Amino acid sequence: MMRRLSAFSNDTEFLGYVRIVMRLVVAVIAMLVAMPVCGEEPSSSPHPGLRHLRETMYLPESFDQTTFDSLWLTWPIEAKKEVAKLSLSERRRATMARYGLVVDPESSPDELNPIGYIVDHSGGWHMNCLSCHQGTVEGKLIPGVANQQFDLQSLTEDVATVKLFRGKLTKVQDLGALAFPMGSTSGTTNAVMFGVAFVAQRTPDMSVVPLQRVEFTHHDMDAPSWWHYAKKSGIYIDGFSPKHHRVLMQFTLAPSNDRDTIYSWEKDFVEIQDYLNSLKAPKYEGLIDEALAKQGAVVFRDHCSSCHGTYATKYSEDVASYPNKLVPLDDVGTDRVRLESIGPEHRQWIKDSWMTEYGKQPVILDPQGYVAPPLDGVWASAPYFHNGAVPTLEEVLNPEKRPVVWMRENDRYDYERVGLKVERVEEMPKGAMDKAVKRRYFDTRLLGKANRGHDYPGVLSETERRVLLEYLKGL
Ligand code: HEC
Ligand code: HEC
Repeated sequence: MMRRLSAFSNDTEFLGYVRIVMRLVVAVIAMLVAMPVCGEEPSSSPHPGLRHLRETMYLPESFDQTTFDSLWLTWPIEAKKEVAKLSLSERRRATMARYGLVVDPESSPDELNPIGYIVDHSGGWHMNCLSCHQGTVEGKLIPGVANQQFDLQSLTEDVATVKLFRGKLTKVQDLGALAFPMGSTSGTTNAVMFGVAFVAQRTPDMSVVPLQRVEFTHHDMDAPSWWHYAKKSGIYIDGFSPKHHRVLMQFTLAPSNDRDTIYSWEKDFVEIQDYLNSLKAPKYEGLIDEALAKQGAVVFRDHCSSCHGTYATKYSEDVASYPNKLVPLDDVGTDRVRLESIGPEHRQWIKDSWMTEYGKQPVILDPQGYVAPPLDGVWASAPYFHNGAVPTLEEVLNPEKRPVVWMRENDRYDYERVGLKVERVEEMPKGAMDKAVKRRYFDTRLLGKANRGHDYPGVLSETERRVLLEYLKGL
């Protein structure tokens, strides 16, 4: 006290000094908090819509942690031998890789968390939208890129086998899942028929009823890139469905969620829709030859933009525009199964239901083709076309080069052909084979998997196709 008095002539001066020091301390703390650590991006809190996707359990438990950790016991002997000697966490990583589950890069090595499932406090795994809608390109997570590795069929079968051994294969849900095809090629799923099945167990106001008689045309699709959502006027490849947050809830319509539960989640989906609208296309990571890309911009304007719109890039003066153009199936000529798999009753049901505010939102009852998608970030959305039948952009541009059978290599990127790195083979390998490996083969001769059509680049010279490929990289 005495010493203080010797430095300050009175209390007011002392308090003034304390205030200045306090302000300085607060300012320094604020600066430290705001400062990026070691050149990292300043961390911003996740979008509330993304938080719902990552944290809210909209679906019941699919299996538990013990089941997940036992899955490897169902694998063929060679695959089993490889993981038997691994530590628990390494084996978990290998298990996720086998089924194409994306590991949350922020989870600790001991506690690997998947992105596409939410693991609850008692170890229950609940599937979420991101199982199909959040993937990686060369191991790097890109928000909104589809999961090109997901093998839901093998996962479902192996989970059932483990549950059977553990005496836990009891739920109707398990047996239903076994009877329903999930997807025959990794990276694609029978998602559209899941939607049809869910809706067939609801009245238009969303009350749960026993499954109505409904015909399924099982087929697989490649999920679209979510960053296109903002540009679209209607959603899905045939654009039939209005863009409305309630329509996004289709995947939550498992019969264990009753009507009022569905209603209570509506506000979450307003934010989820907002998240989808906020996503931006990722930038190409490889090299782009600017001179060629500039020539490509001219070819694109003349031959592609009438359907796919125009793009603001440094390769032309164009400003962005997108026509949402529905192209008749006979014109585009790609696989027709998806279009024909959804009958008029299903479309009418969507139109009459709570999801479209009982018809207030526009529903197209008989779309005759597919909408030409936006091509922003198209480099990252391989494989191409709605069924994912063509592995690279070069092969989109050169129909005669499209492989009949191809096998995806583990999440590798082909910077030359621009798209998935794949092995091209004449035929499916013969003989007994690990089913998870077999499902990595895409056989374009099977139902819903045709790689034909979209012959528009046919009129272009080889040079024009080459420059166009360069331009597409930069969209
Ligand atoms: C099993 C995989 C799977 C799951 C899970 C899934 N989707 Fe999809 N989603 C797809 C496929 C495949 C399509 C393409 C359907 C079509 O075009 O007919 C699609 C289409 C969409 C579209 C339309 C995009 C466009 O550009 O037209 C949106 C939006 C979407 N899904 C959101 C969601 C949300 C939100 C959830 C969770 C509530 C979800 N999806 C769950 C596979 C899935
Ligand atoms: C007459 C309209 C039309 C024209 C012209 C057209 N396209 Fe398309 N394009 C489509 C439609 C429709 C689809 C969706 C086909 C499907 O998925 O089955 C498509 C799909 C694509 C895809 C696949 C996108 C993806 O993510 O799967 C690419 C790439 C593409 N077009 C590039 C081009 C290029 C380059 C040109 C110019 C040479 C072009 N298109 C000309 C209508 C058109």
